[in-house]
Amino acid sequence: MLNIFTKIIIVIALLATFLGTISSQEKDLNTLQTARRNLMPVPANVSWKNGRLPVTKTFAVAVAGKTDERLKSYIFRVMRRLEGRTIFEFSRDLSNDPANAQLLIETASTGNAIPQLGDDESYNLEITEKQAKLTAPTTVGAMRGLETFLQLLEGDAGGFYFPAVSVSDKPRFPWRGLMIDSARHFQPMEVLRRNLDAMAAVKLNVLHWHLTEDQGFRVETKKLPELHLQGSDGLFYTQTEIREIIKFAADRGIRVMPEFDMPGHATAWVVSHPEIASAPGPYQIERQPGIFDPTLDPTNEKTYKLLEVFFTEMSALFPDKYMHIGGDENEGKQWNANAKIQAFMKANNIKDNHALQTYFNKRLLKFLEKNGKIMMGWDEIFQPDLPKNVVIHSWRGQKALAEAAKQGYTGVLSNGYYIDLMFPASQHYVVDPLPADTTLTAEEQKRILGGEATMWSEWVSPETIDSRIWTRTAAIAERFWSPQAVNDVDDMYRRLEIISSQLEELGLTHRRNQDVLLRRLANNQNIFALQTLVGLIEPVKEYRRYQVRPQTMLSPLTGLIDAAQADAIGARRFNMFVKSVVTSNIEKQQAPALKALFNDWKGDGMRLKILIENAPALTEAKQLAPDLQSLGEIGLETVEFLQTGKTSSAEWRDAKLKSLAEIGKQKAGLEFQVVESMKLLVNATAGN
Ligand code: ACM
Repeated sequence: MLNIFTKIIIVIALLATFLGTISSQEKDLNTLQTARRNLMPVPANVSWKNGRLPVTKTFAVAVAGKTDERLKSYIFRVMRRLEGRTIFEFSRDLSNDPANAQLLIETASTGNAIPQLGDDESYNLEITEKQAKLTAPTTVGAMRGLETFLQLLEGDAGGFYFPAVSVSDKPRFPWRGLMIDSARHFQPMEVLRRNLDAMAAVKLNVLHWHLTEDQGFRVETKKLPELHLQGSDGLFYTQTEIREIIKFAADRGIRVMPEFDMPGHATAWVVSHPEIASAPGPYQIERQPGIFDPTLDPTNEKTYKLLEVFFTEMSALFPDKYMHIGGDENEGKQWNANAKIQAFMKANNIKDNHALQTYFNKRLLKFLEKNGKIMMGWDEIFQPDLPKNVVIHSWRGQKALAEAAKQGYTGVLSNGYYIDLMFPASQHYVVDPLPADTTLTAEEQKRILGGEATMWSEWVSPETIDSRIWTRTAAIAERFWSPQAVNDVDDMYRRLEIISSQLEELGLTHRRNQDVLLRRLANNQNIFALQTLVGLIEPVKEYRRYQVRPQTMLSPLTGLIDAAQADAIGARRFNMFVKSVVTSNIEKQQAPALKALFNDWKGDGMRLKILIENAPALTEAKQLAPDLQSLGEIGLETVEFLQTGKTSSAEWRDAKLKSLAEIGKQKAGLEFQVVESMKLLVNATAGN
């Protein structure tokens, strides 16, 4: 029995033999492929040279120019990772001999100790056979360059080395974020720390921290402690912890922007303060996923009194200039049903709920401005009457963002980067905050600050969150950093796997926790067959999980659907292989490889049936075992035609396509991702 990785390697080997004829034409040192090597995000300018800088155990780093503790700590962490890869033990001290150090880092200034939007993150890296020289205007630029430096490490029979190269790099967009929703499912400190490390590794620079929701109020307030005490089940960040995260992020050149979502998404607020809701309480922390009615009352002065205290406290706690007030998905049901609110609107000539929300936002804006903050909110806050200095965060579409930019607002794009929806990296990768066909003027284009991947946490636990974020998010990070012309999807996937392994050295659990979950589900049985299955299936996409497998915020997220991931690797490999085989008409040559694979699917499907009988937590996924077996059997029948060159009958093909359609339907919220490729193969048996 071959495990999934062996199978993948076989498929790669077969594919490589096939592709070898193509890539032999690409020997040029500076072709696009080699120019990108393993770098992600691809730098703005890379020029490869001949030669290599060897890495030995005497590898030393010297610093020149302006240095601060942040940079020194960063260097030591980078050295530690280099040690981990090379298994050399380096000196604990920086070198006093800049001329002979293998890596010389020279920064012109330390820059802002707390990162700010627009900080200079550029750097130059020159590697020769004698030395690598990293120069940057700021500490943060040096950090970005150090990550590129680490990604350049290669090894072969001659040992480890850095290839000679000249890199000159800077980001395309100044705002490159990851939003983490700590509210629906609380995420402990170590989750945030390791994700900040991963963000720095792919040059993301904003942690957008979603801290309040219907399902939880996650920030300690000293002035209004009832908010977090009654709104969080005891799962909140203390202010000391928040300061620690802010420092941890700043040490990696990352801003931390909090979001306090209002006036909707506000149930957790009104658990302790029902008097500021738009309908009488009492309220309890919401346990369901979805959109809910509780909404702050914008006509009540008590609301503003409380919010002023809150925002004043939070403005002092979070040093970032930007503060996100949410503003999304307020359906206005409580407003419509409240006679006092309706009378207020009439008396103040407020024509509809949008205008009422703008009235509310303008009141908030006063508190924020008094505390030196710039307001940011989701699309819905974009209404006439709002001053131009608020930032529009677009989740509903690029059009809305472009429209905001035309009207003079700055904006950030998240539509297209919803990583909770389980789409493949390829889909996110092609979304551009500023598409090539934009109609915006140069001036308007400058208002598109960048983008953010959004990790909404309805269905993520500390155990699975990394697997939902990484590594599709490395591809999104590349979109935000690299030149627009960097858009080769196949090469992105090639590099994504390499970066994914490197992220593991930072403690990210995106890969390893899949086996952790499978072992638990398997009830002490061997998980090989289960690994085959999970390599071929993915959770249902978009918001279908809500319908097909209802759960609450208190449900365990330990099912097979939680172990499964987007971009299932076995399926992706298989689909690539089939596509190349069918488009090149080499079904006959590749039939033996396909046969081996289908035999495994059939055998693993049979093994899985027995495994599931003895693994009660997998009962819901029972049907996936015979489906896997059938996929193998259909494959074997298909291969028989392809190998012998005989053509199949229309009846046979219809029957197989019908079976495949059944197999393609979701079970337990999971879908096989190989069905379309199987159909291609079945149809290929029709002959020409
Ligand atoms: C959102 O997805 N409601 C911002």
